[in-house]
Amino acid sequence: MVVMKVIKVDSENPRIEDIRFAADIVKDGGIVAFPTETVYGLGADALDPVAVARVFEIKKRPSFDPLIVHIDSICAIDEISSSFDKRANILAEAFWPGPLTMVLPKSEIVPDIVTSGLDTVAVRMPSHPVAKELITETGRPIAAPSANPFGYISPTTAEHVIEQIGGEVDLILDGGNCPIGVESTVLDLTGDEVTLLRPGGLSLEEIESMVGDVKILKAESERPHSPGQLPSHYAPRTPVRILEDDSFEPEPGQKAGLLAFTPSEEDLTAYLQVEILSSTGDLREAAANLFSSLHKLDRADLDVIYVVALPEAGLGRAIMDRLLRAAGSNR
Ligand code: TXA
Ligand code: MG
Repeated sequence: MVVMKVIKVDSENPRIEDIRFAADIVKDGGIVAFPTETVYGLGADALDPVAVARVFEIKKRPSFDPLIVHIDSICAIDEISSSFDKRANILAEAFWPGPLTMVLPKSEIVPDIVTSGLDTVAVRMPSHPVAKELITETGRPIAAPSANPFGYISPTTAEHVIEQIGGEVDLILDGGNCPIGVESTVLDLTGDEVTLLRPGGLSLEEIESMVGDVKILKAESERPHSPGQLPSHYAPRTPVRILEDDSFEPEPGQKAGLLAFTPSEEDLTAYLQVEILSSTGDLREAAANLFSSLHKLDRADLDVIYVVALPEAGLGRAIMDRLLRAAGSNR
């Protein structure tokens, strides 16, 4: 696959010339893949509908799935949202910049293609220095979905982006691994209750400590407006099956891989490839390794990937959400 251009940047301290080069491409209506603390994003000027249309084209994403608009300061919020209430303020003060996306009433200026015609807009202020500086140098909000083809695993390294869509973007800023490794938590703040639309890098417990009880939607039918919540989302090409524990044995002759949270005491020699998410049982480390491990297993030409279920608390909730979707099931 032909890659137009990849620039390696220091994730803590990127060179301003590189950021400006990328910002000029975005200002000219181009598409730049860039690292954030969660996953790599596929960025376009959020106020340029034609550029945003190219993002949908590259992702082969159905046009009904709205994008997150990324900002670099709280001042930018008034431009894109018509109402930023007290709850939003509390959450922004506590968790921005960081892995939290808030769905808010949208302002006139946000093109319909960004929000798929909804009257709400999803907004996030990323903490990754490369993402932050790119937005600042561009001088405009940046619309960015995860930089993967629709329905596939999100990229947490520049290599993942190069493999999946490298030939189609104008530039990739390679800032190494994304430290959090799962997408942002998406909260809907347009109703009376704060509602969780997607568990992610910021835990529900942390959010509830600031704004009290958060409503969790269970049935898919309850969330027609967050199509990123389709059950088959985040799926590798190899079938995924969830196991309750690692005492299971794959059938002889089956080319099986295993993804486990922690190292096992069982005999795992029946598996062709085993990926361990965290040697110490740390959920943060597991989240950071999740998509890379799935990518590795998906590339290993296996018949099936078995996954050992994780505890569903804290970041474990987001990890299990992605794994259940990868398995095509939905509890
Ligand atoms: O961590 C992240 O959030 C990454 C990085 C690049 O920031 N972005 C990301 O974007 O995951 P994407 O497009 O892959 O997922 C955005 C999610 C989707 O589930 C989408 O349906 C939902 O946010 N969403 C966007 N706008 C919405 C809106 N107005 N109302 C409800 N859900 C919305
Ligand atoms: Mg995505």
